[in-house]
Amino acid sequence: MSLKQLLVCTALFSAGFSAQAAEAGFDSVKDVLTRNACLSCHTVDRKVVGPAYKDIAKLRKDDPANAEVIAQHIRQGSKGVYGPLPMPANAAISDADIKAVVDWIMAGAPKE
Ligand code: HEC
Repeated sequence: MSLKQLLVCTALFSAGFSAQAAEAGFDSVKDVLTRNACLSCHTVDRKVVGPAYKDIAKLRKDDPANAEVIAQHIRQGSKGVYGPLPMPANAAISDADIKAVVDWIMAGAPKE
């Protein structure tokens, strides 16, 4: 591959990538939740082990300061907010993945 081809490739790739990040629809969030095994305890609209993401959104989304609280609870774990069961800490999840989930919850956890 020539340098010019390589540059074109890189440009196309980053354009596609940022377009995807800007949309951040449910599909990309679902990918994050799947990769980080969040869906073994959570669904969008029904309580399983953890609260439904819709219910988390209901409790949290009206106060922008809650974005930080949610992010911290995903990273460090949480207990006593929704019931007796604790959520374990997630040391491995990336900051970008946490941000995608937090933004989605603060937008009301829409399923599209
Ligand atoms: C082992 C089960 C389990 C897994 C795995 C799990 N959670 Fe939870 N999650 C819980 C429980 C239980 C709660 C409620 C904790 C509480 O009452 O404080 C919770 C609470 C939450 C909350 C609410 C925090 C708040 O303060 O409003 C968010 C957001 C959340 N989880 C996201 C995630 C994400 C993202 C992942 C994957 C990286 C994940 N959870 C993985 C069980 C789990």
